[in-house]
Amino acid sequence: MRGITALGVLFLVAMVGALENGLARTPPMGWLAWQRYRCNTDCVNDPDNCISEQLFMKTADLMVSEGYLALGYDVVSMDDCWPARERDADGKLQPDAERFPSGLKKLGDYIHSKGLKFGIYEDYGTHTCAGYPGILEHMELDAQTFAEWGVDYVKLDGCYSDPHTMDQGYPEFGSYLNKTGRPIVYSCSWPDYLRASGIKINWTAIIEHCNLWRNYNDISDSWGSVTSIVNYYGDNQDEIAPNAGPGHWNDPDMLLIGNFGLSYEQSRAQMALWAVLASPLLMSVDLQSITPPYKEILQNKDIIAVNQDPLGIQGRRVSKKGNIEIWTRPVTPTSGDEYSYAVVVFNQGNGGGPSNVTLSLKSLGMTHSAGYLVSDLYEHEDIGKFTPDQHFYVKVNPSGVKMLRFNLS
Ligand code: GLA
Repeated sequence: MRGITALGVLFLVAMVGALENGLARTPPMGWLAWQRYRCNTDCVNDPDNCISEQLFMKTADLMVSEGYLALGYDVVSMDDCWPARERDADGKLQPDAERFPSGLKKLGDYIHSKGLKFGIYEDYGTHTCAGYPGILEHMELDAQTFAEWGVDYVKLDGCYSDPHTMDQGYPEFGSYLNKTGRPIVYSCSWPDYLRASGIKINWTAIIEHCNLWRNYNDISDSWGSVTSIVNYYGDNQDEIAPNAGPGHWNDPDMLLIGNFGLSYEQSRAQMALWAVLASPLLMSVDLQSITPPYKEILQNKDIIAVNQDPLGIQGRRVSKKGNIEIWTRPVTPTSGDEYSYAVVVFNQGNGGGPSNVTLSLKSLGMTHSAGYLVSDLYEHEDIGKFTPDQHFYVKVNPSGVKMLRFNLS
């Protein structure tokens, strides 16, 4: 009996060690402060845009009143620059007292009262990227503190640390999160730091310990930044794409839509590509001032449904000829071993008018002889039924996309 009990305990410990926390069965959706609000701590001169409890409360209100929560955007997450420069007398992290006078338990309560989840940012090293206290040497206490505050989602960055220790450190912090007993989504920057340092990435470990992870450089508010990320995911898809699935996702970083750097076409392109990439949909925009066309892109139900498809298969770039790329993602409904597909035709060209593109269903892997019902997810149009031997013609604007869905008929 005793032996069996000991074995049972060992098994339990092994289970707690692994992340499988049942969370993020589809890519997380929400709002993350960094891209739009950065490390603006000047609440005296810029009270509406500084990193403060006001900003997160206002954003939580707008997530509900403007309909984002109803569509699945359910996390409101802080990024860097929330902490005080020093830990408190007990060694606990504390928020900046002037910018977060109510404290983070209260802020978490407020966010929860709106039906939303509370996200926080920290860093595995001695300091966050912006120089605030990191979690190194305080990991267990910090995980407990986050749980006390009601945190539901942690983004753990990797500045000011030795990337060679991350294979041990990221799982260790994940095990402390699990130990709190509170379900907490774990977003890791681990593989991005390994990649940047030329260290081999153990994907099995990343998948086991993190719900999502950054692979590549930070996004910034420009089209060049978006295309560099998309190209990285396309060029490295054989290594990256198979690692995505329910509970574990690649994270190409925040959506820029509604800010300053992307045109309307480019904004539609980012949303469509992030949907086929099974990427987390983390808006980073002022939800008060965003204009209707951009809000409409973020709130496109059909594209969100592709992103949130229950199969959780990440899409791939299946063709690239000159400026024209075709990305496809297998989605539901399925029949036997046949899938439906989301298809993004992406024009990376930046001159002239729309390009004419011919799609051959068969060469895209669509072989279902009864055919596919095709719809255009931006035009909200049913286009009709197409069989594998048929061709399909589209016009795609420069730095724009056509986004289609081919459902098994
Ligand atoms: C790193 C991360 C960004 C952001 C900043 C904050 O650069 O990759 O997403 O969190 O740190 O300082």
